[in-house]
Amino acid sequence: MLATSRNSELVNLLNRITVGETCFFRNHPQLDALRKIVLPKIVEAQAKSAVPQIRLWSAGCSTGEEPYTLAMIFLEESQGVLKGFRFEIEATDLNEISLEHARQGIYGEYSTRKLPPYFRQKYFLNTGESLQVNSMLQSKVKFSRLNLQDASRMVFMKGMDIIFCCNVLIYFDTSSKRMVIQHFYNNLTAHGFLFLGHSESLYGISEDFRLVHMPSATGYVKSPRTPVMRG
Ligand SMILES: C[S@@+](CC[C@H](N)C(=O)[O-])C[C@H]1O[C@@H](n2cnc3c(N)ncnc32)[C@H](O)[C@@H]1O
Repeated sequence: MLATSRNSELVNLLNRITVGETCFFRNHPQLDALRKIVLPKIVEAQAKSAVPQIRLWSAGCSTGEEPYTLAMIFLEESQGVLKGFRFEIEATDLNEISLEHARQGIYGEYSTRKLPPYFRQKYFLNTGESLQVNSMLQSKVKFSRLNLQDASRMVFMKGMDIIFCCNVLIYFDTSSKRMVIQHFYNNLTAHGFLFLGHSESLYGISEDFRLVHMPSATGYVKSPRTPVMRG
């Protein structure tokens, strides 16, 4: 009983102290790189598999603007580069209040300030004071609570082709960053791709990824580990 109440106190505290700043289409150049460079590469790598599918994880999704943005891009590409592919978008965060907001999918002017009119009209219902994500878009994202520092849960996020973990690791110390990045490495497929926020990098954190410079953004591709030579 005592443990349960301590646990709920901790959850309440985490809900209050986490910083959830986000918006739709937060980083246009990064999204262009996803669409024009990363998706075609992953499609090429996946094309021979029996069930062509792409799995994406928005880690530290806050109130949902990032994964819904990614879902809109995937839906748009369903008749383009992703034709014939299934896709799954998992979105996780530590903060339950943010996750509840994300599931409801109702947003005000601040969150939608960078949302292009085309997407606004196609994927949202205008309720007058706010925009509500439509049911088709809502059905494309699965939200769940996950603490990125909980190793016992991180092992279950296997088989991801793309991970977005933007503006989250800035709040972590170096050893926690290393631990989370190690899990990302293990959870990505062989050709998997990792996007961080534009002020974040893996410098001094991990050498298991190759930095990729694209015209509009940078990202990290999983590199095969060099086998240990035994004498
Ligand atoms: C600044 S928001 C980033 C939102 C979105 N990724 C973006 O770039 O727009 C940071 C999010 O990271 C989440 N976060 C912080 N520590 C976390 C942890 N240990 N596990 C999971 N999420 C965490 C916070 O709750 C918050 O929603």
